[in-house]
Amino acid sequence: MILLSVFSCGKSLSLEEKQEFTKKGKEITQDSFKELSGKLMDQMSIGGPAQAIPFCNIQAIPITNQLSEKYNVLIKRTSDKIRNLTNHPTKREIEIISTYKNLLKKGKLLTSIVELDSDGLKHYYAPIVINSTCLVCHGKKGEQLTVKTDSIINSFYPNDNAIGYHEGDVRGIWSITFNN
Ligand code: HEC
Repeated sequence: MILLSVFSCGKSLSLEEKQEFTKKGKEITQDSFKELSGKLMDQMSIGGPAQAIPFCNIQAIPITNQLSEKYNVLIKRTSDKIRNLTNHPTKREIEIISTYKNLLKKGKLLTSIVELDSDGLKHYYAPIVINSTCLVCHGKKGEQLTVKTDSIINSFYPNDNAIGYHEGDVRGIWSITFNN
């Protein structure tokens, strides 16, 4: 027993570390959401989805990369139904997403997760939930997502999987990897 806890010591996070990285992760994801959705909504008000989709296509990754540099972390948004192939999930990310989906089904609260991987890197995960403003580009085709918008999306993302969502659904997760 004693030996086991000595060995696992280097491989688990203390309560203080968990709290520290939960706080950092929350700050980073809130800032990133503000940045991305703010710019997206500006484009929407200028020219609707026809303006905002190409903008996201070109700018979403550079914006996230800039924020990654600012915070010295790796910021990623991912999903089990992706639109942008650059955002494809790892095995662990898929597991986390499915955990959140199961919690939601049971009516439980979705909270962030901080953990250490086998290489000793710290990760922060938090759910991304669909709200009404997302549906014009991620909703049900022929409803909030018009046929026209869907065809614009398909011209940029021929393998798009990220439609058919309802308000409150788990769209995916924020996945932050800390460098130290
Ligand atoms: C104007 C259309 C539009 C709206 C509105 C929109 N998105 Fe997206 N979304 C996109 C496009 C285009 C991409 C692919 C580019 C990227 O962001 O990497 C994307 C990608 C994503 C991704 C990354 C995973 C993936 O599938 O590539 C997440 C997560 C996401 N959207 C969540 C949301 C949420 C949550 C909302 C509402 C708060 C929202 N989106 C609103 C167009 C939109």
